Amino acid sequence: MRTPLVAGNWKMNGSRESIKELINGVVEGAKSLTGVVVAVCPPSIYIADVTAVTSGSSVEVGSQDACTELKGAFTGETSIEMVKDFSCKYAIIGHSERRSIYGETDEVVAEKFTTVKNSGVIPIFCIGETLEEREGGITEEVCARQIDAVFAAQGDDAFAGSVIAYEPVWAIGTGKTASPEQAQSVHAFIRQHLAKRNADIAEKVQILYGGSMNPANAKELIGQPDIDGGLIGGASLKAEDFMAVCQAGQ
Ligand code: 13P
Repeated sequence: MRTPLVAGNWKMNGSRESIKELINGVVEGAKSLTGVVVAVCPPSIYIADVTAVTSGSSVEVGSQDACTELKGAFTGETSIEMVKDFSCKYAIIGHSERRSIYGETDEVVAEKFTTVKNSGVIPIFCIGETLEEREGGITEEVCARQIDAVFAAQGDDAFAGSVIAYEPVWAIGTGKTASPEQAQSVHAFIRQHLAKRNADIAEKVQILYGGSMNPANAKELIGQPDIDGGLIGGASLKAEDFMAVCQAGQ
């Protein structure tokens, strides 16, 4: 039995003031939720402000990325040990915006995955196809390739204790959600692909859906057998909307 996880990816949004209001709303709303884990991933400069509010609550915090390296001359980077120092439980790795805008290859993402996992933080490993790849009929091939890079770096048990987020690139920030059937079909494929290496781990891994998930479509998506929660962008920026999605995960 996999506990649903709903994580908000705030991306590069908010101010010190607006984030204080948002996280207070999330912590308050989470008090009435059971059977779902709620997490937020703020811009790293605000992580300390956020953990000051979530401390002692049920809300978990994650970072949006991590450097491949643990310390040293890497100007502008944040290491996983640093975010761990601020009680981050999760780290998003391989988000499509990191892959497409910052040129992170499957190999770099796999390296980050290894660094995060070795530090004891839970990677939320993002995969997904572009519109062109979907239309070209290679969605499964793309997801398998992205996953296999991690297997190559980490071996057959790579995904033990990790989270995967399937985020079709064409659904991110576009208002175009994958239908529950489309999403379920890829989630089932991902789980089968993991099972070829280790069936027990495949059964336990939480596979989140991300891409224009909102209060109106969350229940049906999370209701699919292989969808174990969501990674939420736009709808996580308003406490009320985010809590409605979290409720759908219960
Ligand atoms: P949206 O929910 O805004 O489509 O973003 C999804 C996402 O990229 C979460 O990581």
